[in-house]
Amino acid sequence: MEAQLSLEFLRVVETAAIAAARTMGFGDGHKADEITVEAMRKTMDSVQMDGTIVIGEGERDEAPMLYIGEKVGLATHAPKALFPQVDIAVDPLEGTNLCATGAPNAIVVLAASERGGLLHAPDLYMEKIVVGPSCKGAVDLDAPVATNLKAIAKRLARDVEDLVVIVLDRPRHEKLIADIRAAGARIRLIGDGDLSAGISAAVIGTGVHAVMGIGGAPEGVLTAAALRCLNGEIVARLVVSKPEHQERLAKMGVKDPKRIYRTENLAPGKKMIFACTGVTDGNLLRGVRFFGEGIRTHSMILTLDDRQVRFVDSVHLEKRSDIKVRFN
Ligand code: FBP
Repeated sequence: MEAQLSLEFLRVVETAAIAAARTMGFGDGHKADEITVEAMRKTMDSVQMDGTIVIGEGERDEAPMLYIGEKVGLATHAPKALFPQVDIAVDPLEGTNLCATGAPNAIVVLAASERGGLLHAPDLYMEKIVVGPSCKGAVDLDAPVATNLKAIAKRLARDVEDLVVIVLDRPRHEKLIADIRAAGARIRLIGDGDLSAGISAAVIGTGVHAVMGIGGAPEGVLTAAALRCLNGEIVARLVVSKPEHQERLAKMGVKDPKRIYRTENLAPGKKMIFACTGVTDGNLLRGVRFFGEGIRTHSMILTLDDRQVRFVDSVHLEKRSDIKVRFN
């Protein structure tokens, strides 16, 4: 499945990122999302799979495309038996506002696994700590912030003062931010995009050592899919603050709302493909560049079983005979 589908998913995220990038800076996040979803949905139907969306744009009655339970892939037009069964999680435009304002780190994201390989997370908030491979097993969601930072620093053989922690800039994080500052670590506050931040935390050299705070649960599952392939770690717990959250969880079969999820619980699949393409320039990926005769995209494709991490720099040329390809 991984070898067969990863390049097809690359095509899906590249196409969606190009569509998203056309909307960059127009100040309309809603439109940017709509255009990206449409492009992703269209390309997905040419992929040789019997796919089911398990994390997408919402429930069927609230999202016209890429809704939870939607069938996607060539199997929707041909005999199902010919294609592998795949569960798919998407965040078509992670950082809609980042794209709408031309800010860094907007990406298009897709993860795929065999049936049952990705948690069907409800659209709630989730407390998260994300760290890279060296810090696996070192953090605890219930430990004081200073204790976690000390543990991370020890594993990375440096001082707490040398750490950079990414936190979503939200009023709900006031205490977390104060605690990180009191412990002496440095903070990078971001407007949106804890998923791309989580991927960065698992890649050495990005200058990001951890992501802490509350963000979306669907983004948590997608982060876990990437971390399975990168050998990083996420520890997470759903934020259940209203009676209707309890009801939603019960409906989804979540028995213990206080459960602590680790990477393997959020993305348990044996086969995993994670694909993302930069829309705007970011920590890990360059954004889409339009250069008259073509378009250049920068993507990351990860596979779990095949153990491949691919950074793909694609040039999509116009269909003309006089095209020149530049090296950079
Ligand atoms: P979008 O993909 O909808 O733009 O969400 C971006 C994001 O910042 C995520 O990265 C994060 O998990 C979530 O929103 C946080 O939610 P909120 O904006 O409600 O704090």
